[in-house]
Amino acid sequence: MRQKIVAGNWKMNTTVPEGVELAKAVVAKSVEVPSDVKLVIATPATHLVPVADVVKGSVVALSAENCADKEKGAYTGEISAAMVASTGATYTILGHSERRQYYGETDEKLVEKTKLALANSLKVILCVGENLEEREAGKHFDVCAAQVKNVLYNFSAEDMKNIVIAYEPVWAIGTGKTATSEQAEEIHAFIRKVVADKFGAEVADDTTILYGGSCKPSNAKELFAQPDIDGGLIGGAALKADDFIAIAMSF
Ligand code: PGA
Repeated sequence: MRQKIVAGNWKMNTTVPEGVELAKAVVAKSVEVPSDVKLVIATPATHLVPVADVVKGSVVALSAENCADKEKGAYTGEISAAMVASTGATYTILGHSERRQYYGETDEKLVEKTKLALANSLKVILCVGENLEEREAGKHFDVCAAQVKNVLYNFSAEDMKNIVIAYEPVWAIGTGKTATSEQAEEIHAFIRKVVADKFGAEVADDTTILYGGSCKPSNAKELFAQPDIDGGLIGGAALKADDFIAIAMSF
């Protein structure tokens, strides 16, 4: 059975003290969440060390929001996968649309980042998704297939055990506009097929595919009820512990 996951993506929000308080609130409420749902919080890099301390011994796992495409050296301002792993984080998000859009993250760089993350024992949450123009032109299947293939087809079935895919339609991120459960399910099932085409049905069946984009307590239940939606990557609603936990209780 594939793992159900609800992951919070804090993005560039909260100061360190605010983040520590938010993490404490999530940990306190995490006891209410059924044990088959994995909780992950992805924090800014500055927060990883203190938040690692907060989540230690709890069911909440810690994630970075990004890591470098180089191992180490003269790359001012970058944070390597080894550095992330040394904080106690066990996951990293990679390829978020905001990084693709604003920071020139390409599929080629994502291959390098994914290699380094896995080599440092980090699990990867790889984000894919089309923008509004691509959706309106009916290209969403092609865009998502290309993003999945360009990155993940460079890895092995064994690697796939440590890779989670997050489908995040760019037009739904932070807009309050959620994909309908039918729209999301249609593309999740398609992405699972793209995984199956390379790695076989068994690996595809075991791959966790999250939905992201204005997921909130009021729509999580319907989304998570879909057979190919295994949880969510939550932005805005992850900044409130109550909402984040309510989403995690929506399976
Ligand atoms: P949102 O963000 O929930 O605020 O739409 C999701 C994401 O970008 O991961």
